[in-house]
Amino acid sequence: MSQKTIAVLGAGYVGLTTAALLAHAEYKVYVVEPNAERLNAIKSGRSFFFEDGIDAIIKKAVDTGTLIPTDSYEQSVPDADIVFSCVGTPDNPDGSSNLSYVFGAAEQSAQLMKSGTIYVQKSTVPVGTGKKVMELLNPGVHYVSNPEFLREGTAVYDTLYFDRVVAGGDDSESVESVLDIYRQLESHRDTIAELAGIPTGSRKGLYISTKLNSAELIKVTANAFLALKISFANSIAILSDHVDADVVEVMDAVGADERIGRAFLNAGRGYGGGCFPKDVSGLISSSIENGVDMDVMQAAQSINASMPGYIVEKIRDSIGSLAGKKVAVLGLAFKAGTSDTRKSPGIKIANILDEFGAEVSAYDPQANKEAKDDLNDGIVLYDSLDPIEDHAAIIIATEWPEFRSFGAQDFESMIIDGGVLVDAVNIYNPTSFSESNLRYIGVGR
Ligand code: UGA
Repeated sequence: MSQKTIAVLGAGYVGLTTAALLAHAEYKVYVVEPNAERLNAIKSGRSFFFEDGIDAIIKKAVDTGTLIPTDSYEQSVPDADIVFSCVGTPDNPDGSSNLSYVFGAAEQSAQLMKSGTIYVQKSTVPVGTGKKVMELLNPGVHYVSNPEFLREGTAVYDTLYFDRVVAGGDDSESVESVLDIYRQLESHRDTIAELAGIPTGSRKGLYISTKLNSAELIKVTANAFLALKISFANSIAILSDHVDADVVEVMDAVGADERIGRAFLNAGRGYGGGCFPKDVSGLISSSIENGVDMDVMQAAQSINASMPGYIVEKIRDSIGSLAGKKVAVLGLAFKAGTSDTRKSPGIKIANILDEFGAEVSAYDPQANKEAKDDLNDGIVLYDSLDPIEDHAAIIIATEWPEFRSFGAQDFESMIIDGGVLVDAVNIYNPTSFSESNLRYIGVGR
């Protein structure tokens, strides 16, 4: 079998991970990125975002020439047998997805693709988008939807040791060709994991072929359901606060039921990131457009929006007025393992505290640079925990391993006597603070 050439359009989390991995699975891969700063980072053999293991695989593939970073569609697309569209889909102010990059990439590629090329959509798009993109492509080009399920922070691992690969389209041969790419990647996965310095796995994932619109709907439905689980857990957490139950105990036992599962039932400050908030509002928009009731997701969305404020209310109930009080938010990334701060609950909490007149400082081990512009002007950003002393409240908003390892002693100098440790991600055992001079506040416990 002759070596296939792949062009990946867009070097975000999905595009760059996909490109770098396929470049180690006997493909020649172009990664096309218009942003000069990002492109230069990739050319020098590293990612422009923090992601476990990715730099090593980018570096080796760039050095050996199997990964070719470029900003040129003209250089890459005509040479490709398969084009992956991985461009961004930011949300519009009304919550619907902004598809201008998706259509723009298809338009720019349309005249450059040779007949028989497979155009694969990996960007998350509302159901029905693929049919519209197909209208822009020449009849000899085949269109396949291949949604992405990787998580930031474990992008390399998730792509190598996937639960399932989904490909949907009208041409079954093209769908099969796309699934074959992942079969080939799977045959190289342990070697790539070792090179990346991440653990190897043993998961045997499923290969699923579907109709085009099913594939598009699978992606947003999966994210929406996970978001729904989180909001459900948060509703039970609020009830737990009222009835003196511990939501962690509740969810440990409820999640032990295999039909339910424990994953994504962690209550806390709610979900953030570039995916759940956008996909939930995207699903709501698709439903409205089609005259379908999606109240269940509207409820999940509004519970999520209320969680940062709920946590600040808990702090006020505990220490009274926030005016002039020193408080610090630790954790500004939307979750651990990433420097991404999009829709980060930690940033929302910091800004609400600031609006209540508190003297707010903040720290994140990876995401200070990314968080800076979204924090209110008065908030002080620290490069380390050293300056954080004698605060009335410390709020843990991201479950970073370095925070997880803290015990009562670590907080003693940070928090004044009678001050509060607010565990907005429920990572500590509340009883471990019972002997200390600080009060522990979790979410729903
Ligand atoms: C999510 C999905 O998990 C991926 O499968 C999907 O491919 C990706 O979106 C995408 O569409 O690209 P990601 O946004 O990287 O991945 O992050 P998650 O690990 O899913 O976490 C999302 C948010 O939910 C985070 O803010 C996290 O802290 C929060 N969360 C997660 C909870 O509040 N509770 C939980 O129990 C789990």
